[in-house]
Amino acid sequence: MKILAPSILAGNHANLSNAVEIAEKDGRKWVHLDIMDGHFVPNLSFGPQTVADLRKDSTLFFDVHLMLDQPDKYIDPFIKAGSDLISIHLEPDYDHQGTLNRIKKAGVKTGLVINPDTPIDGLLGYLDQVDLILFMTVFPGFGGQKFIDEVLLKAKEISKLRSEGKGNFLIEVDGGVGPEHVEPCLAAGVDVFVAGTAYYQRDDQGRKEFAESVEQSC
Ligand code: DX5
Ligand code: ZN
Repeated sequence: MKILAPSILAGNHANLSNAVEIAEKDGRKWVHLDIMDGHFVPNLSFGPQTVADLRKDSTLFFDVHLMLDQPDKYIDPFIKAGSDLISIHLEPDYDHQGTLNRIKKAGVKTGLVINPDTPIDGLLGYLDQVDLILFMTVFPGFGGQKFIDEVLLKAKEISKLRSEGKGNFLIEVDGGVGPEHVEPCLAAGVDVFVAGTAYYQRDDQGRKEFAESVEQSC
């Protein structure tokens, strides 16, 4: 299963439901929601109330990416808001294991995220417990940045471990992803492609072709 997950960060924030609607009308199955706290990343986006309100009008799979210093403090409202998967970063200092356990216990899927300069070592102990590993292909905080190719080396390593039976998770990339990255990402074992700018800036036909290049690739 290969998925293109439009990131509504690239939508109009006075009308985010429109970005979700576009994804849904296009036939996408997932939508990516970026939550930023102004501490872990130098930007603010939106919170659980927005997620809950978007949830009312959409049946898409809500892939929620928490870019927070203390995600453990905000897990419950994002669960309540109707997240289908919640990804938390490895970098900040909090109880990662306990937080993953709480997400899982609520029946929500779990993801672990690393930044472009974070080695994969810290992920290894969690491979058999998470549903998704997210590799940031930009330093998080803003849409429209340039894809960092070297990150795919890490995705490849994790994909190899997966093929050796060390877990059953999806591999996701996020940041600067455009049609030109589909092939190299597929070769690195990527399953879920988050795309904000490169998705929403295209016209109907362009979005369709981009998504098909991902989703019809196998
Ligand atoms: C970056 C966010 C991304 C962002 C991707 O901080 O985590 O999800 O929305 O947007 P593009 O595709 O524009 O880089
Ligand atoms: Zn994201």
